[in-house]
Amino acid sequence: MTVATADGSDGVKGFVTDALPGECSYYYACGPLPMLRAVHRKLAADGELSFAERMGCGFGACMGCTMMTASGPKRICKDGPVFRKGEIVWDD
Ligand code: FES
Repeated sequence: MTVATADGSDGVKGFVTDALPGECSYYYACGPLPMLRAVHRKLAADGELSFAERMGCGFGACMGCTMMTASGPKRICKDGPVFRKGEIVWDD
């Protein structure tokens, strides 16, 4: 395990992407969308990402947590929150 803190008070100083290994065979990540996007961009390996999205209903009715995937829109609360790296269609 590697710890990263923005102020350097513990572990590597910087963002989580500063503490990532140069390469790996597979990875798991959870956290806010900007961090997951940065991890996705930095690591070429396949992996799984768990999205921490603000929920409206939390059971699949409001579509407020929808994200785009290769197989169409998916609800993070009902279809996720974990998605394979290759499923995710980033909006940038
Ligand atoms: S929070 Fe309502 S559909 Fe996910």
